[in-house]
Amino acid sequence: MAKMGTSSREAAAIVVMLGFVLSLAVVCNGGKTSSFVRKEKSGVMPLDSDVFKVPPGYNAPQQVHITQGDQLGKAVIVSWVTVEEPGSNTVLYWSAYSKKQKSEGKVTTYKFYNYTSGYIHHTTIRNLKFNTKYYYVVGIGHTERQFWFITPPEVGPDVPYTFGLIGDLGQSFDSNKTLTHYELNPQKGQAVLFVGDLCYADTHPNHDNVWWDTWGRFTERSVAYQPWIWTVGNHEIDFAPELGETKPFKPYTHRYHVPYKASGSTAPFWYSIKRASAYIIVLSSYSAYGKYTPQYFWLEQELRKVNRSETPWLIVLMHAPWYNSYNFHYLEGETMRVMYEPWFVKYKVDVVFAGHVHAYERSERMSNVAYNIVNGICIPVKDQSAPVYITIGDGGNTEVLATK
Ligand SMILES: [Fe+2]
Repeated sequence: MAKMGTSSREAAAIVVMLGFVLSLAVVCNGGKTSSFVRKEKSGVMPLDSDVFKVPPGYNAPQQVHITQGDQLGKAVIVSWVTVEEPGSNTVLYWSAYSKKQKSEGKVTTYKFYNYTSGYIHHTTIRNLKFNTKYYYVVGIGHTERQFWFITPPEVGPDVPYTFGLIGDLGQSFDSNKTLTHYELNPQKGQAVLFVGDLCYADTHPNHDNVWWDTWGRFTERSVAYQPWIWTVGNHEIDFAPELGETKPFKPYTHRYHVPYKASGSTAPFWYSIKRASAYIIVLSSYSAYGKYTPQYFWLEQELRKVNRSETPWLIVLMHAPWYNSYNFHYLEGETMRVMYEPWFVKYKVDVVFAGHVHAYERSERMSNVAYNIVNGICIPVKDQSAPVYITIGDGGNTEVLATK
């Protein structure tokens, strides 16, 4: 508003200016997607929490989890841990339309510093029918435990499907709220796209791997019944030379198997699956991604394989976001962006989900691929061929939220 004594021309200029500022505010306001605001920080749930409870019975299977077991969704990897002895690797499974069948898997163990794991079982069930509810049993004798899952519909362009999205979950009281929030969501997610940072065991002294076990028991109530699609985060690296632990991802790779070979990948950290109408590419922010590296060669070939008339949705998962306006982890995704963003624009990736930054943030469709060392063109521009970037790292782990 113009002050008394200001000339009418100046007043008009101020009004125009105000109008411009207001319209900018309207243009820049991305809107509010939820009224939920997480508290600043909540503590790790104590070891005797009910969500960490060990199932009763001698050698009872625990930490049961499933993920997609092939590229199309006709196979499921079932994993679980037994503590007292190896027990059985067999999964017994059936549907309303088929008799009981058995699938045999393998068992593994590992040591991490002064921790020794239980017996970790992985069994892949193959040749399942699409869109079918299967029951399955793990364990033997009086410690059998029964669960179920529903296979996805056959891959196709018009197949609806609902994914849940979780990142940086951890095992705080807020993590439990996140999982409950997901379970109670009326949209009923059918599978979870998990963008890395699972249990945060590495934040405990000596990376105390007991926290991998508690997390497995905590999440079982969801992941035993629907597949979670795994991406690695920095908290899965567990690189600890001071403890004599120099093989990155050791606990993660023993506990969480993914169908990487089905998509021609040579390592479990980058791979792809198709599910319903979506083609999902999982990348590793913590494996080499420079030119001539295995991940680079794989992604170069992989993007060519996507047939948008079969899977119109092209989704990429990674841990460290390429676009991040928070000061937490600022520019950590930049070197990978420089390597791969031109491909994402060329192949018109729809959406990229990342975690790592403990906040929610969503971009417009924009790219920043014009830069070379002499032209100075280094500002993101609106680009309808570019993905939308969504950060969902606010899963509730005990580290602080990104707020600045
Ligand atoms: Fe992270």
